[in-house]
Amino acid sequence: MITLTELSKVLNLSKERTKQITDEALLKNPNLKIEKGTVWKLGEDLVVEIMKTRGIKIPNKKVITTKSQKGGIGGTTLLLNTAIYASKFFPVLVLDFDPENHATNFLLDENTDYKNLKCIYDIYSENRDIEEGVISTKYPNIDILPSALRNHKIERLLSNQNPKKLLRDKIDRIQKNYGLIFIDLPPSINILTGSAYLTADLIVLPCIPSVFSLESIGLTIETIEKLAQDFEAPIRNYKIIYNQFNSKRVASQEVLSALLNNYSNLVYPFYIKESTEVLNSLNAGKSVFEIKGAKEIKNDFSNLALNVMGIE
Ligand SMILES: Nc1ncnc2c1ncn2[C@@H]1O[C@H](COP(=O)(O)OP(=O)(O)O)[C@@H](O)[C@H]1O
Ligand SMILES: [Mg+2]
Repeated sequence: MITLTELSKVLNLSKERTKQITDEALLKNPNLKIEKGTVWKLGEDLVVEIMKTRGIKIPNKKVITTKSQKGGIGGTTLLLNTAIYASKFFPVLVLDFDPENHATNFLLDENTDYKNLKCIYDIYSENRDIEEGVISTKYPNIDILPSALRNHKIERLLSNQNPKKLLRDKIDRIQKNYGLIFIDLPPSINILTGSAYLTADLIVLPCIPSVFSLESIGLTIETIEKLAQDFEAPIRNYKIIYNQFNSKRVASQEVLSALLNNYSNLVYPFYIKESTEVLNSLNAGKSVFEIKGAKEIKNDFSNLALNVMGIE
């Protein structure tokens, strides 16, 4: 469910006006879901209907949440929660390129038969379109190109290709079907990761309170800029999101000030707090938006999602 306030932010309208629009949609179709308590909560069918009738131009962005050459910093966690939030407004596609397939396992129903699924390795080795491998997930508005362990072999398969064109050509053909496309990447740099960097309209770099994470931000930015230079791609748009912030830890404050000193214009003006609710929800196969309470962390993630969606 989406609150009226959230919808008014997305529509960039006052709450009053958003209320009117919601009532108009309900007048046309009284079966659309809504809970009119002190806080109005709108069902997904209603939100999607309103988005459609308003003719809101879907932001044509592909988003990468990368591990900046270091795993375990929340890349997949941020991607999943952001994708699930965005999917309340428009169709979302997740491309899972990480051979460890965490995003795939999370998004697919546990009864999924993995045998006949196609991953990006198959798409390239069999010369297919991405569309041929895309399947539905347990979330109504999210599709996925699942990953598999054999994605490890992609480097050998694609070694002589041009990373600027490699993914671009494939994505151009499916882009129209989705509001946002998210790409989950492995921590390593390979031809496909490079291609994702050159294709994405926005690269989100997570940083956690650790010196190694901070260092890897520098390295990743270097890699992205070198790639763009080598292949004459336009300047890349990247942003840093500070994840697992904990105001009680000295390291949290220290890394934050280092980030602000070195990359002030790249850091999002909010952070994602360290929270057991993130861990618990993931373990239960849910996003933070599907658990009770957890108001602060929901707010952190919706901030990130609204920014990624190009709304705030
Ligand atoms: N804000 C957070 N608070 C608490 N735990 C987090 C947070 N963000 C990520 N984690 C945990 O950190 C671990 C690594 O996250 P993951 O998304 O798999 O990282 P990556 O994709 O960068 O390897 C996971 O167990 C995840 O639940
Ligand atoms: Mg990951």
